[in-house]
Amino acid sequence: METFVSAPAGASVVVASDLDALSREAAELFIRLSQASIAAHGRFTAALSGGSTPRMFYTLLGADNYRRAVEWDKVHLFWADERIVPPDHPKSSFKLAFETFISSVSLSAENIHRIRGEKDAETAAREYVKDIRDLFGTEGMPAFDLVILGVGEDGHTASLFPGSSALAEGNRLAVPVHRDRPDHDRVTLTLPVLNNALHVLFLASGKNKAYVLHDILEKGNRNKYPAGLVKPVHGNLRWLIDTEAASKLHTT
Ligand code: 6PG
Repeated sequence: METFVSAPAGASVVVASDLDALSREAAELFIRLSQASIAAHGRFTAALSGGSTPRMFYTLLGADNYRRAVEWDKVHLFWADERIVPPDHPKSSFKLAFETFISSVSLSAENIHRIRGEKDAETAAREYVKDIRDLFGTEGMPAFDLVILGVGEDGHTASLFPGSSALAEGNRLAVPVHRDRPDHDRVTLTLPVLNNALHVLFLASGKNKAYVLHDILEKGNRNKYPAGLVKPVHGNLRWLIDTEAASKLHTT
């Protein structure tokens, strides 16, 4: 495990040897932050992502030794984004989290704030905003304790894609995103919400992420990419990546 001094201002970058180590590190961080948040304010609010990278991390959260360390009745799960597909669809991020760990932990239905992908994107976004407001209150930006994000080779994160009008959203907490086939329409949290989180954790694994990580983390081209625009205002920004994803970065 090593940290790069070349991390952009306000961020830390940790390199794990492989996806196994990255997943263990992420699960341990989830546990630590859940304990600290519950001690500080009685609950832990986390927004999850889909994609392939977090699968092993989520599976660990459902495993005996990890799940016992979390007070699940004080955890509220949200999603950073979701595809407009039913919750049992293979591309559903809810399905990924449900099958890997939610089904193994004691979390009541009121604590699972999934995005209703079975509805149209406008309705799902509107209902999701109401769900967030019901828990966090009607004023200002909600402050999630933890937001877990991935990054695409094109620098997208959550469902904020390069050039999308959703990047300019300053008021709404979540917006619909229309995508060409074969992708699906989506709903995504917006930058002001991501940037108001107390902790943001990016996960990236594999050689195909090396170029974009080099550009964002080392060359200082953060503003070119949606993922680089995630700069928590008061919170903590961590990148947890594996050696393949870090292969174009200079170690210290
Ligand atoms: C999703 C997210 C997306 C994802 C990245 C990285 O797919 O649910 O919308 O932003 O986190 O595309 O995905 P991988 O983990 O599959 O590389």
